[in-house]
Amino acid sequence: MKLFLDTANLEEIREIKRWGVLGGLTSNPTLIAKENPTSIEAHMKELVTLVEGPVSLETTASDADAIYDQGVKLSQVGPNAVVKVVMTPEGLAAGKRLADEGIPVNVTLTFSPAQAILAAEIGATYVSPFLGRVDDVGSDGMHVLAEICEIYDVQGYDTQVLAASLRHPMHVVEAARLGADVATIPYDVFSKLKDWEQLQKELQEGAS
Ligand code: E4P
Repeated sequence: MKLFLDTANLEEIREIKRWGVLGGLTSNPTLIAKENPTSIEAHMKELVTLVEGPVSLETTASDADAIYDQGVKLSQVGPNAVVKVVMTPEGLAAGKRLADEGIPVNVTLTFSPAQAILAAEIGATYVSPFLGRVDDVGSDGMHVLAEICEIYDVQGYDTQVLAASLRHPMHVVEAARLGADVATIPYDVFSKLKDWEQLQKELQEGAS
């Protein structure tokens, strides 16, 4: 399973890159806005330049033609750019056109196996099930992921399963166990992946 960082913060990217485990990046408009960039385009350019692997950049338009046009522009930000389209009929229609032209597409905001089948059928490079968001509404994100991985395996789909909206280290561990191709991880969760020794130290200090 590849480890992607879910951020638009350049310092966080540099740090995880330094660890030697950065496989790629996912961004979204909220994450980019948090960085207060003077130019969104320039910030996106920095992201694709800094990261050696695939970098997802999200479309924000709502009709298929506009999503497609925006997607073409985003794909030109760098050779490793991946165009995120939202799991809607408009997003799928635009994503299909982009994928048919050889532009890598990430179908985002996916919440069910049925939606993941649609993503695979348009030839998306990635499908992003939002596991934490599924948990948020009282359902089981990991069960959704397990079903998607099983279906993709049975069907032999090439689309890669990118586990997203991960909130804690066990989400990452479970995603790996279930066979996700990629986990995209926020910086704070990424940091916790290495923290066993620290926890042990704190517990020992607390006990003494
Ligand atoms: C991934 O592509 C998304 O940016 C991200 O995982 C969303 O996570 P959230 O549900 O915690 O906002």
